[in-house]
Amino acid sequence: MSSIYVDHAATTPMLDSARTAMTLQLAQLGNPSSLHTHGRATRKTIEDARESIAKQVGCLASEVIFTASGTEANNIALKGLYWQGRDKGKQVVVISAIEHHAILDPAQWLADHEGAEVLLVPVSNSGVIDLDFLKDVVSKRGQEIAVISIMHSNNETGVLQPISEVVAIAGEIPVHCDAVQSFKKVPLSFSELGLYALTLSAHKIGGPLGIGALILRRTVEIPALLHGGGQEREIRSGTLNAPSIVGFATAAESEHFNAKNVQNLRDAFIEGLNKIIPDATINGSKANRLPGIINVTFPGTQSDTLLLLMDSQGVSCSTGSACSAGVHEASHVLLAMGHSVESAQSSLRFSFGASSTQADVDYILSVVPDVITRGRAANLS
Ligand SMILES: Cc1ncc(COP(=O)(O)O)c(C=O)c1O
Repeated sequence: MSSIYVDHAATTPMLDSARTAMTLQLAQLGNPSSLHTHGRATRKTIEDARESIAKQVGCLASEVIFTASGTEANNIALKGLYWQGRDKGKQVVVISAIEHHAILDPAQWLADHEGAEVLLVPVSNSGVIDLDFLKDVVSKRGQEIAVISIMHSNNETGVLQPISEVVAIAGEIPVHCDAVQSFKKVPLSFSELGLYALTLSAHKIGGPLGIGALILRRTVEIPALLHGGGQEREIRSGTLNAPSIVGFATAAESEHFNAKNVQNLRDAFIEGLNKIIPDATINGSKANRLPGIINVTFPGTQSDTLLLLMDSQGVSCSTGSACSAGVHEASHVLLAMGHSVESAQSSLRFSFGASSTQADVDYILSVVPDVITRGRAANLS
């Protein structure tokens, strides 16, 4: 049976070059905080990697703070910027309704435990945030806002968000951006966007799992979540994970992701799908989206059934949204875009990556009609 992977937004294969660099570093001895020769050698390797990632994302090396994941970077940014604002009497946190749970949940935690008021910016039917709503909130309550956090692109639909406009509207208010899905897929520059903070994750770009970075403006100081040895500007204590950092930098330097190729595959898939399942609808703006992600609603089906049927045909895709105790929840992203619960629960995400091929697209299209027929039958029974 074929084995086709179209879940690159969840995680994408690690590059050979990243694996080699990481493996070599695993054999090196030395704590980067130690002052002796071994320690200094590891420190130099890490600083080179920091420099290299900084170059790729358009920031200063000193603005790169290594974390253990994108989730951790989001938590440090949102909580840190909130606490910093709260000290000045600002208790409002503004996020979009379609953020990843790694922003939604810390925001909810700040509301439940730290006195924050969380305001959600709604999105249009095409999944783009409502800038007029944001303008209105900033003009009426700007003095109370500690932080605005809006993602660069959505992980379920691939829709890009107007971050430059958000920063312009925010003025002096700190803006954080979760760019986990956008890094190395579309142009991205921290300094050009004028952000306070930005989140990256290595395993979405061909680096290892369990390493990420918070890009934090040099002049911004925020309280730490982890206290200890004072590493990473005292914002993120913990001995630095040199092998993973090296793997991350190697992936960040690589130009293996050819956006045009990936986009062509995605478009070929959409075209094929339109022909064989005419009532399938593609969710989200067609104009401003990542090259690799598409989210499709198949009326009259249940996503988790479709996922298993796809899997039984050797195709790994995703429902896009979280599972809670084995039950597939309706996607908060699709609900925010105006879907009914039923429609949100009949959608699948296909995400193509650098290793995807036309043969993958052809194979998926060959199994889709049977999967949808069986999915619809299961839904009726
Ligand atoms: C938009 C977005 N933010 C944050 C994360 C979390 O990143 P990590 O897996 O490194 O914790 C993900 C992962 O799926 C994501 O898609």
